[in-house]
Amino acid sequence: MKKYFVFLFSIVVIALSGFVQTPQINSEEDKLSARVDSVLSLMTLDEKIGQLNQLSFGIGWGPTIKVSVPDEYKQMIKEGKIGSFFNAIGAEFTYELQKVAVQESRLKIPLIFGLDVIHGFKTTFPIPLGEAATWQPELIEMSAHYQAIEAASAGIHWTFSPMVDIARDPRWGRIMEGSGEDPYLGSLMAAARVRGYQGDLTDLNIIACVKHYAGYGGAEGGRDYNTVDISERTFRDIYLPPFKAGVEAGVHTLMASFNEIGGIPASGSKYLLNDILREEWGFKGFVVSDWNSIGELVDHGFASDSKNAGEISLNAGLDMDMESRSYITHLKELVVEGKVKESVIDKSVKRILRIKFMLGLFDDPFRYCNKEREQKNIMTSDAKIASLDVAKRSFVLLKNDKNILPLKKDYKKIAVIGPLANNSIDPIGGWGGLGDSADVTTVLEGFIDYVDNKTEILYSEGCKIDDTSIKGFKDALNIAKESDVIILCVGESRDMSGEACSRSSLDLPAVQEELAKELLKTGKPIIVVLMNGRPLSINWLNDNADAILETWFAGTMAGDAIAKVLFGDYNPSGKLPVTFPRTVGQVPIYYNHKNTGRPGDLKDHYTSKYLDLPLTPLYPFGYGLSYTTFEYNDLNLSKNKITAEDSIVVSVKVENTGKYDGEEVVQLYVQDLVGSVTRPVKELKGFEKIMLKSGEEKSVDFIIHEKDLRFTGADMKFKSEPGLFKVYVGTNSVDVLENKFELVE
Ligand code: BGC
Repeated sequence: MKKYFVFLFSIVVIALSGFVQTPQINSEEDKLSARVDSVLSLMTLDEKIGQLNQLSFGIGWGPTIKVSVPDEYKQMIKEGKIGSFFNAIGAEFTYELQKVAVQESRLKIPLIFGLDVIHGFKTTFPIPLGEAATWQPELIEMSAHYQAIEAASAGIHWTFSPMVDIARDPRWGRIMEGSGEDPYLGSLMAAARVRGYQGDLTDLNIIACVKHYAGYGGAEGGRDYNTVDISERTFRDIYLPPFKAGVEAGVHTLMASFNEIGGIPASGSKYLLNDILREEWGFKGFVVSDWNSIGELVDHGFASDSKNAGEISLNAGLDMDMESRSYITHLKELVVEGKVKESVIDKSVKRILRIKFMLGLFDDPFRYCNKEREQKNIMTSDAKIASLDVAKRSFVLLKNDKNILPLKKDYKKIAVIGPLANNSIDPIGGWGGLGDSADVTTVLEGFIDYVDNKTEILYSEGCKIDDTSIKGFKDALNIAKESDVIILCVGESRDMSGEACSRSSLDLPAVQEELAKELLKTGKPIIVVLMNGRPLSINWLNDNADAILETWFAGTMAGDAIAKVLFGDYNPSGKLPVTFPRTVGQVPIYYNHKNTGRPGDLKDHYTSKYLDLPLTPLYPFGYGLSYTTFEYNDLNLSKNKITAEDSIVVSVKVENTGKYDGEEVVQLYVQDLVGSVTRPVKELKGFEKIMLKSGEEKSVDFIIHEKDLRFTGADMKFKSEPGLFKVYVGTNSVDVLENKFELVE
């Protein structure tokens, strides 16, 4: 360590002595770039290329993992051939690796350690789709903040999160990692997560990585890694906004995606990586590839071999190569051959060094490697309380017939049934990090704990999630018959969504619906608790169950949160961030669709519809019930004409007309009636989550500016167009009040 400071000191001395050209220093950014330049000027071409190389450590998981560094890696670090590792975890272990870099390599440049901290490091939070269902960006910022504290304490500097891909196809398993189908909600969530992870870059923050840039969620057929071919306009108006929001929130890195878009793979697209990202948006950080996405340019048929792939990606503006080893193997030769300019490599190196400086790693490379801090900061009670809070708020009440919920406290016996009832693995969700099932409360445990011996809780698994055996039905039916109510926990396993987990069916897997059908015959009320990473087509449950609570994969505190919500300690307030189709055949189905020339009409044959389906989804975007009821009245506008210089205040009265206190997400949508290009039937433009006591009424105001009405017009310019607009306010994207205004020049 001492040696390291001596080294730094010598760089400063060199810089000050004029040996290295230092620019005029007049801002923090200038100071930073002077420091970056002073390091760059000492680097050989090999060392520069080394900074662009990132490898996965590939050694088990565990925050205190202590392994000796394999010789191959040790040698590479010593030779300055690695700029970053990911999947190397733990204060002690990252210390070991960092020590090699800063004590044994020639220039002693610190490594940067990355990890997929997507919805938790050790304390897991609900999957991002569930977090989006809270419609509370500030809460999600806090969730990211807690995730950052744990990861930073375990030696991690950088998370490959947030995933901000818009997804309109629930077959795509990675829908669970994002914030759903809407660019406005998705943008707010993206920015919130970036702020939550990065904060002020203290040693308890980590840098974020907005991914997967871009269009990855548009995979044809919902099949992961598949071709994406969407129009430039839809790409800009629907898919890109959350990335831009992440950049505006100050994200320091982006990850280039696997997919091609319109024939150009994102990881080799100068248009994406340079023209849009850096020139249009002014992004200053660096871009990492996805795992081997540079190498895969060959499989795309976009590069002839790994060397050619490296040439294309680097020249396109992709700074760091995750795992393909194309840069480390070929860049030097490409420079010699004149196919890649050293000045282009310099730019990428500088971007990476800049972030290492910003993280304070040049000042103290072991800043994140503190064993005591790691022990103290992981799974704190504060983090668990935060996870519980987010979980409760992420649940969406899909059905509640005859107000069967909240559960009565005087039930004698409750049957908790289903493959997800006493399951502590699946609630961890698809990117659970180091989440350990031993720390997870199951629904059964949550219930037992909640009722505290006053009610008898009976349990039966009934069936498996993905197995056709019905042997367990008998036992489930037996306990159901002797109980007052059935809590039926069904859905998907955690590995049915996430990467490479596309499904062609959205139905409940295997025999879970059969189990529900058998249980219905007992005549006992059935409350369904759903766990899943994507919208499911649960028509039968919707028609027959008494109540349905969507809980996604809720993380460490799942069981506690579910029991508390079902018993009414917390009144559900989540709203769907994505449309639930009736059947997979309706996909893609999303609320902000176009009207078409022949809008669907079941009574008119030659219109846009299916012969065998209603026009509507099972549950629309923005949908979610409460134990109480809300009534909307008096949708008023402060004026009915606006110009680019002023704004309109949209106000609505919302009253809690039920008997419980509760929160409601008041949603504002706008429709541009005529445009130079066709416009969506509705676009979310604002929302506010309000708390109303039973009987209370509040007036909610939204302000609409001209800039909220912009889109990519016929001339491909992002601007508004004068004309008539409808404004809708309501409890979801369908049940709304409406009014009108005009945008005038
Ligand atoms: C995924 C990324 C992830 C990376 C590193 C890839 O397969 O697409 O989202 O960050 O692996 O684990």
